[in-house]
Amino acid sequence: MLGINKLPYHATLQLPSKWKECKEIVSLDGEWLFHWSPKPENRPVDFYREDYDVSGWDKIAVPGNWQTQGYGTPIYININYPFVRNRPSVTTEPPKDWTAYENRNPVGSYVTFVDVTKEMLAKNLILHFGGVHSAMYLWINGQRVGYSQNSMSPAEFDVSKYMHVGKNKLAVEVYRWCDGSYLEDQDMWRLSGIFREVQLWVRPLVHIADYRVTAIPNNDYTQAEVQAVVSICNTGKKKATVCPVVMIDDLSADKTELQINAGDTTNYVFHYTLKNPRLWSAEKPNLYPFSVELEDNKGNTIEHFDYHFGVKKVECVGEVFKINGKNVKLRGVNRHDHHPRTGRYVDDATYEQDLRLMKQANINFLRTSHYPDREYLYELCDRWGIYVMDEANQESHGYGYANQEMGEDPAWKDAHVDRAESLVKRDYNHPCVILWSLGNEGGIGPNIQAMYDTVVALDSTRLPFYDCHPRYSALHDFGYPTPDVLKTEAEKETEKPLIAREYAHAMGNSMGNFQEYWDVIYADSSIAGAAIWDWVDLGLYRSGKGEVKSEEFLYGGDFGDQPNDGNFNINGLVAPDRKPHPHYYEVQYVYQPLTFKRDNDGTIRIINRDSFTDPSEYDMTCDTVSFGSERLLNVYARLKEDKPWAEKGFVVAREQFVLQPYEYPSLPAKKSGGKAEVTINGNTLSSWIVDGHEVLQGPLEPYFWKPENDNQRAAGFARRVAEWKEVKDVTVNYTIINDSSILVEMDYQPTTDRPIIPKVGMRMRLPADYTHIRYYGRGPWENYPDRKRSAFLSEYEMPLSDYETEYIRPQDNSNRCDIRWFEISPQTSAVGPRLRIAGLQPLCIRAWDYGEEDLDAAPRHPQDLQRGRFVNLNIDLNIHGVGGVDTWGQRTLPQYTINGNQPYHYAFIIMKCNSGHI
Ligand code: GAL
Ligand code: MG
Repeated sequence: MLGINKLPYHATLQLPSKWKECKEIVSLDGEWLFHWSPKPENRPVDFYREDYDVSGWDKIAVPGNWQTQGYGTPIYININYPFVRNRPSVTTEPPKDWTAYENRNPVGSYVTFVDVTKEMLAKNLILHFGGVHSAMYLWINGQRVGYSQNSMSPAEFDVSKYMHVGKNKLAVEVYRWCDGSYLEDQDMWRLSGIFREVQLWVRPLVHIADYRVTAIPNNDYTQAEVQAVVSICNTGKKKATVCPVVMIDDLSADKTELQINAGDTTNYVFHYTLKNPRLWSAEKPNLYPFSVELEDNKGNTIEHFDYHFGVKKVECVGEVFKINGKNVKLRGVNRHDHHPRTGRYVDDATYEQDLRLMKQANINFLRTSHYPDREYLYELCDRWGIYVMDEANQESHGYGYANQEMGEDPAWKDAHVDRAESLVKRDYNHPCVILWSLGNEGGIGPNIQAMYDTVVALDSTRLPFYDCHPRYSALHDFGYPTPDVLKTEAEKETEKPLIAREYAHAMGNSMGNFQEYWDVIYADSSIAGAAIWDWVDLGLYRSGKGEVKSEEFLYGGDFGDQPNDGNFNINGLVAPDRKPHPHYYEVQYVYQPLTFKRDNDGTIRIINRDSFTDPSEYDMTCDTVSFGSERLLNVYARLKEDKPWAEKGFVVAREQFVLQPYEYPSLPAKKSGGKAEVTINGNTLSSWIVDGHEVLQGPLEPYFWKPENDNQRAAGFARRVAEWKEVKDVTVNYTIINDSSILVEMDYQPTTDRPIIPKVGMRMRLPADYTHIRYYGRGPWENYPDRKRSAFLSEYEMPLSDYETEYIRPQDNSNRCDIRWFEISPQTSAVGPRLRIAGLQPLCIRAWDYGEEDLDAAPRHPQDLQRGRFVNLNIDLNIHGVGGVDTWGQRTLPQYTINGNQPYHYAFIIMKCNSGHI
């Protein structure tokens, strides 16, 4: 059963930003009365009755999920179903430790009251639910109205005949799971409730039921055929005469009168030829304001909606993907609809923040993984310019990727088709949509074919996409390739463009080798683009009834949810509160529309990666900066005017060139003679007293170990290179230059076959007060050898807390590359002197207020780390890269690893710094 008494799906009638001022919409959002039952048997069966007393019930926010408001347990699970797989049942007895054992299928019973006037009752009343997870029954004034599933699409019911003048009781019974949940097995928090808007539409008896606008340019783009199909229905009891009026900008078409019999629906088709159309693209999101109106036979406006359309063409020409005739590259990201406080309900301000951050990161393509988002998101993409792959709410991963069970079972055909139809019908009028995705990691077979046929029949102006088999897709998908595999796959594919709908798994400290992907993508016209997995870490705050209990971001298992997939949902470019991670900036840099090259004669050449924008549309600025002997040239392309997502002057592309390289200090001529209060035992400097202060809380010693990040943990890094927990084959020489500076030289000569080295360098521990850092190197954000292009050389100053990166699951972090010198000091000289470390070649330095052992113990959250006992400093020649392909086995690319079978030598001077405290 997919629905009872549901009205047909249709396009969003009014621009979401205008819903508040729309006279036809009465918002029912707010506090509703609520009762939660752990299983269906416990639910208040009669609660919908008018005489059922709900006065003692709790209050809950609508829209919202009940789990984020203190009821039941959020469950984070990736591939498997959170209940026992036994379709269509969702209540088969699971193992005792599963959340679903006690809470077999929780039920939320919701009640609210709506006042209806006589005038309202004379009209057509439609109740609209933007999204209810997973299934709902609706009663009004004790009478059953209908049922709906397909939780990420609107459900509408004609409620006119159930309402009366005065106070009306609305009762909604929501089930956590239903048979539809077999198609909603996405990798995300499994949350429930009325999580999107609820509206009562008070509509004229004769009204616009739907309208669809297409605006397709001709072959030479000199004109566009605009077509609007408006369907008008008469819900009244009398034949009616109305006049539809379609307006583009201020141009209106001739008026035609239409006669519609009671109960009938009629289509009115409007054509218009637009001369020299301004095309819509993500770069130039030109929109034409559009409105559709109904007038009665006296010329009075009885209904009016505002929308917009864009003129564009999307096509695959052989293996080339084109927008408006150009081989556009999709610089993409996947995004789940997620908010750390409100779960699956994401408010408008957060949508704006997400899209602003995306535009600022030069992202031009968004996949709404793995279901349709709220309507406002699409309006923003239309206005600000982001290509959208709009995805149907269809995933049955629990049966396996490309499974036949769900794809072939005829009993599940309509359920599949329903999800395709609801997707295309709702979002049809958004120019931002370029691809309709049939879902993710679902089945293959006739049911998917039926989805495909539905999409193609409904819309010939956008292209269908599916990941599980190219048969159902205009583009061939290849997920999570390495850059090399992407290259070979693209070379192999000759029929269709290639896309990586997901790549660059951004889990924890990740996103290495990102430039390598784009070197491949830009070099091959058959690659349409790729979308990062994914935008935002899906961490949730712990919340109780009406309150947030902790500011810690929680992941799978933190709510006692069983089974769970731990932190596998923490894969974002931004944290749950939308604070960008260091790798966000690497994306911004690699995705930038302009690339700069400097010729030997000093000429700067610009490579334009965009298709509809000329570099002259930016203000180009540059500055030359010197740091000691090093001279750098920074080049910037800036916005010439304000955009909705950034102000004039915002840097959209940048590059740094070294005009004159840094001169590293050379080895002191005289290698002995100095005096200092030091204790040296072999390779270890265990004590160094400067101005009466012991600066070493832990010895300066060769140290080749580094804790894992998520990618490395998944690839068995620690196991493979465990032997480096002890250093071998190393000699360190300490030369006392004078009482306040020591030359440290380290030499590694492998004596036998060695595995790759986590890092080559030294470690020491300083007193806990050494929390202020100044350095000259790459920054300001964290960078590693395979993720450092966005981090320009400069002098940076920051507290240790900013030098560290706090990952939601603590892991290796905070490296800075190409450091020329690094200073660290306590707040006052009473604690000890400022120290400077000067490399004789570039250094990699990490600094934490905890130790390797603390990370190796795998704490679940930053709050579990014991901080502040010392400052841990790693001073390295080189460090293993973070990796950036996937988090299920792929390793750091070989060029960013350290071969254990070759010698290494490096040196630095550590000295007391005389220039006082910072
Ligand atoms: C993909 C899947 C995503 C997510 C990702 C791993 O294969 O489509 O939903 O599970 O893997 O984070
Ligand atoms: Mg999946």
